[in-house]
Amino acid sequence: MLLPQKHSATGTTIFTVMSALATEYNAINLSQGFPDFPIDEQLGNFLHEATVKGFNQYAPMPGLPILRQAISNDFERRYGVTINPDTEITITPGATYAIYTAFTSILQADDEVIVLEPAYDSYIPNIETNGAKAITVALRAPDFSVDWDAVKAAITPKTKAIIINTPHNPTGAMWNREDWDILASIVRDTNIIILSDEVYEQLVFDGKKHFTVLQHPELRHRSFVLYSFGKVFHNTGWKMGYCIAPPEYTTAFRRIHQFLCFSVNTPAQYALANYLSQPTLPEVSGMMQQKRDYFLKQLAQTPFTIHQPASGSYFQTVSYEQVSDMPDMEFAQWLTKACGVATIPISAFYRNKKDDKLIRFCFAKKEETISEAVERLTKLKVPA
Ligand SMILES: Cc1ncc(COP(=O)(O)O)c(C=O)c1O
Repeated sequence: MLLPQKHSATGTTIFTVMSALATEYNAINLSQGFPDFPIDEQLGNFLHEATVKGFNQYAPMPGLPILRQAISNDFERRYGVTINPDTEITITPGATYAIYTAFTSILQADDEVIVLEPAYDSYIPNIETNGAKAITVALRAPDFSVDWDAVKAAITPKTKAIIINTPHNPTGAMWNREDWDILASIVRDTNIIILSDEVYEQLVFDGKKHFTVLQHPELRHRSFVLYSFGKVFHNTGWKMGYCIAPPEYTTAFRRIHQFLCFSVNTPAQYALANYLSQPTLPEVSGMMQQKRDYFLKQLAQTPFTIHQPASGSYFQTVSYEQVSDMPDMEFAQWLTKACGVATIPISAFYRNKKDDKLIRFCFAKKEETISEAVERLTKLKVPA
């Protein structure tokens, strides 16, 4: 029996491939985006407490009310925006799931969705699985800013949505207020829906501020905004996230969500609610900026070049044009096997596998991991 191919991405994701290669060759894994340091003990204690206190059965479909309320308070405090916890917040098993569910709740066959590339690799398969078409627009290297003329040119009567990601994986670039205003002017007379992937909102450097689409008076009412606790609290393995959207979008989102997973891990929700409700939380951006700065300083001893330090996220894009002229996929695999450092080739974030001789390092690692990795990079000997 021939089973349908629901999307155009074949094979396994690059993150799985590179992490498996890192394990096989005992390489330091700076490829996949996850921290190698522990979570705050208090968060773990709350998880334990949840199981002991009996929070072990199904949670309500939209999420535990205490968690939704804690998120609402957090957004009021950090961004000055008021979010209704009952009608605008849905807890999800991670942001990837929330992105898929948002797409599924709005897309119909032959709709088009604009995707700015390089892009997180789930977007296009999610769009295609829903029978819709991804229209890609390349960001402008080396700063990976948006080519607004190209975005305008990509809009057709079939454009249903545009997906945004800031701070950006894999480039570390960030949108500013002006970008959102330009987007607002472009979509003003259309019904285009925005999906705003803001999973790295709390990892921003050099005094920059993340501007969320929720702060934009015009755009907020046409946006699904997707978040991940994993990226903020260093617990990616918990796979916990949430979607904020206006009430009518949230209703559509929950229509899919209730038959996709119905509800999300109760003890984790209890733990996150209590953790988020503490009077003060550990500051994440400063800690991660230190790691970025340490990585950049160390990397300066190697022949790799940096076009632009990451403004946000926990990724640094690095050029190896002074090191080798291998294609980036080949170079990343060679680096893992021969040098013992695993990275991700940036071509993996483009549908057409555009190769600019760039690789992505994740610097959400302990100092000793970073320095051991860079020491290996310093010694690298490229085959002639
Ligand atoms: C841009 C982007 N969106 C979403 C996610 C997924 O988040 P989660 O682990 O909560 O599914 C990631 C994780 O790497 C990401 O980089």
